[in-house]
Amino acid sequence: MSTDRQAPLRLGYEAPNFDAETTNGKINFHEFIGDGWVVLFSHPEDYTPVCTTELGAFAKLEPEFTKRGVKLIGLSANTIDSHSGWIKDINEISNTTLKFPIIGDKQRQVALLYDMIDHQDATNVDSKGIAFTIRSVFVIDPKKKIRTILSYPASTGRNTAEVLRIVDSLQTGDKHRVTTPINWVPGDDVIVAPPVKDEEARKLFPQFRAVKPYLRFTPLPTA
Ligand code: BEZ
Repeated sequence: MSTDRQAPLRLGYEAPNFDAETTNGKINFHEFIGDGWVVLFSHPEDYTPVCTTELGAFAKLEPEFTKRGVKLIGLSANTIDSHSGWIKDINEISNTTLKFPIIGDKQRQVALLYDMIDHQDATNVDSKGIAFTIRSVFVIDPKKKIRTILSYPASTGRNTAEVLRIVDSLQTGDKHRVTTPINWVPGDDVIVAPPVKDEEARKLFPQFRAVKPYLRFTPLPTA
């Protein structure tokens, strides 16, 4: 396993590969990605309150990610045994069955590779004072490219619906050469991407309307 720190990671970079132990067995990350989408996300520590609510919410929403061809994979600097015990609590509290793998990254090898270590919260440390991870999210596409990076502090739980919305925006944009406006949700009008000139836009999006020459809304084609 490579332990080289490859930071800063940027949008568009290839997601660094690694081998790791997970609650569902050993993985090679690039093999795990295969030809699908992946959301890799870290939490600070097992058996902590915010993390327990988050992992329960991701487990509940997993079928929606699966529908979109997206695999979830969690990570923290805790052991597989710790994860396995904690998953029972998550399932009980959130009335769910957590199925996705969680990486046991006690040595922080993957956390260092993905720059997930907490550098600012002095309370987010293990019993030896070594920093745990922040709440990172990496959305990775089937070409293994990093398409989104989110960083939340340990104190702030994420919004699983927002992670799913990002996936919807990226997949919609890839399919239709559109972008998505503020607060967009599937079903709302999208924006014709600036490189698509009006002449082509008329063919691709017959119902597009130009609010300004640079701001053209359209419903998505139904086909
Ligand atoms: C939590 O999950 O509640 C938590 C974990 C680490 C630091 C702060 C909050």
